[in-house]
Amino acid sequence: MVAVISPDGRCVFANASFERVLGLARRSVLRGSVFEWFIEAQKLRTTVAAVASNQFATSRLEAQLRKPGSAGGDPLLPIHVHVIVNQMDDPGLVVVELVEIEQQSRQDREERALGQVQANKELIRNLAHEIKNPLGGIRGSAQLLEMELESKPLTEYTQVIIKEADRLQALVDRLLAPHRLPHVVGDLNIHEVCERVRTLVLAEFPRGLRLQRDYDVSIPEFRGDREQLIQAVLNITQNAAQVLAERIHDGDAVITLRTRTARQVTLGKLRYRLALELHVQDNGPGVPESIRDRIFYPLVTGRDGGSGLGLTLAQTFVQQHLGTIECESEPGKTTFKIVIPLP
Ligand SMILES: Nc1ncnc2c1ncn2[C@@H]1O[C@H](COP(=O)(O)OP(=O)(O)O)[C@@H](O)[C@H]1O
Ligand SMILES: [Mg+2]
Repeated sequence: MVAVISPDGRCVFANASFERVLGLARRSVLRGSVFEWFIEAQKLRTTVAAVASNQFATSRLEAQLRKPGSAGGDPLLPIHVHVIVNQMDDPGLVVVELVEIEQQSRQDREERALGQVQANKELIRNLAHEIKNPLGGIRGSAQLLEMELESKPLTEYTQVIIKEADRLQALVDRLLAPHRLPHVVGDLNIHEVCERVRTLVLAEFPRGLRLQRDYDVSIPEFRGDREQLIQAVLNITQNAAQVLAERIHDGDAVITLRTRTARQVTLGKLRYRLALELHVQDNGPGVPESIRDRIFYPLVTGRDGGSGLGLTLAQTFVQQHLGTIECESEPGKTTFKIVIPLP
């Protein structure tokens, strides 16, 4: 869409696609001020003025185009556009070009992010294999060396090698573990999963923590791997309990397990009629800003002695059920939202 306008927004020319997109007759297009077509036109106004007065030859911004026909209760959404403002030979006039930002681009971004996550996992897995292979040799050699050692105090060193090799071994085993495929034995009830997690977490934190239930009992059963989902929800709930330490001490820590259904959700690239939403919400301090956009990556941890694998594992398990996990966090309210398609 292209229009030629004066700095006050009067339109001297607009091409045909303008009329089509705005749903206006040419006469109306040429009559009004261009700025009226935009929601929040102030930035555009300044930009047009700056270009017209020769401060820039060209400038770009993003804006939202209002559909004039949408006022009368018609729920049309504004159109997001890139706006490119250019000088013309004729001083006092500028060319405004609008390019619709396709809905697509958001989906593209999500897809790319998903690809990135996949690539990261692959990398971690390969790396884990590379570490695992020589570890056996290192540990075995240390053991042989220890047997040959005459001096007792020196075994302290071989013990360090053996212990550290074991620790690394356990770590790489956990990095490689989540790739078992789900065992689907039958239908599962999400509330059974929640109840099991509740019991486990309450056993670990018997005092000072309230684990609230907010269940939609009409949620149908679905095919899935019960053990995997318990592990996923457990990891998320345990994290919440861990960050609540202070409130647990004060006795006002609350974690809520909430289940709901959602309609017409898009997960990955597919659209589902019905999905399950499971929220694990806590009143803790929130996810530290510094790791907020990486918490699902392996080895990212915000606590001493953390492995940074809990959420990675949870995500893998939920993805194996074609679902997603998202996190929203602010001090006092953190919610992990698991979404899984229902039949
Ligand atoms: N509910 C939560 N509130 C605040 N921070 C959280 C929460 N859940 C997870 N986190 C942060 O995400 C990090 C990664 O979690 P996770 O992958 O389970 O690894 P780990 O628990 O071993 O650190 C945690 O260390 C913590 O900093
Ligand atoms: Mg954890």
